[in-house]
Amino acid sequence: MTEHIKIEAKSGVCTITLDRPEKKNALSHDMYGAMADAIINAELDASIKVIILTGSDNCFTSGNDLVDFLGAPPDLTADQRPPVGRFMYALLEAKKPVIAAVEGPAVGIGVTLLLHCDFVYAGKEAYFMTPFINLALPPEYASTLLLPRAIGDKKANEMLLLGQKISASEAAAIGLISDVTGTGSALKRAKEVASILAAKAPSAVRMTKQLLKDSPESAEDRMNRENALFAPRLQSEEFKESVTAFFEKRDPDYSNCS
Ligand code: COA
Repeated sequence: MTEHIKIEAKSGVCTITLDRPEKKNALSHDMYGAMADAIINAELDASIKVIILTGSDNCFTSGNDLVDFLGAPPDLTADQRPPVGRFMYALLEAKKPVIAAVEGPAVGIGVTLLLHCDFVYAGKEAYFMTPFINLALPPEYASTLLLPRAIGDKKANEMLLLGQKISASEAAAIGLISDVTGTGSALKRAKEVASILAAKAPSAVRMTKQLLKDSPESAEDRMNRENALFAPRLQSEEFKESVTAFFEKRDPDYSNCS
């Protein structure tokens, strides 16, 4: 339990609010733990159809609590997941739709977690920054996969290799977020979308979400699959005819190939 996370269940929607404005909603171990529990409970509660994640009026989150990072860094490889891991896996595995409402800065894991949400609405003063590189840290929780997929390699490089800040309007234009709202209206918009979703067939929503989230194979898996096809092709009649035709300076003739 922590006073820095507020949880409200109303009209089929569980709203999880970060409430540590004096530290710009920096995420402590206790806050991650409370958010993980809230998501897991919302998943188990049949009356809840949608989860909303939001922050304060002028700040979504400044990311991981840097004091915790220095004093009590999480062991991300431990068998027993630390609170941040419990939270990120709960979000990853959530079958119900998750909507984020962002005002002000979303920094570090505050952006990473948005990549795992199904909808993101942000007030027009919001901005997004993944400055891991400036802390000499690599990115985390699949952001190197999901961010380029969302916004393209070149923009992802600017965010992850340069730590560049993205405005709400640019974030919407490049596909990092669903839409920009007026300042202070992101949560209202998230609630409107939640009530639309809550009225839809729940299992169809879950099924559709699952299909949308199913990951295409990794680059490594794709390379392995390509290699499995490519190597035998080097022994094929079609390949031999193609190369022979090249050296003989003629068009290939595949008429004897089946
Ligand atoms: N962890 C711990 N404390 C944090 C924090 C964090 N991630 N981010 C901000 N704080 C604290 C500040 O130390 C300050 O505390 P103080 O009042 O005791 O001095 C307070 O929150 C307010 O922060 P401040 O920097 O003054 O607010 P701002 O509005 O000028 O800037 C941010 C907001 C989010 C842009 C800025 O705080 C920031 O860059 N924070 C660090 C972000 C970061 O590197 N996160 C980790 C990414 S992996």
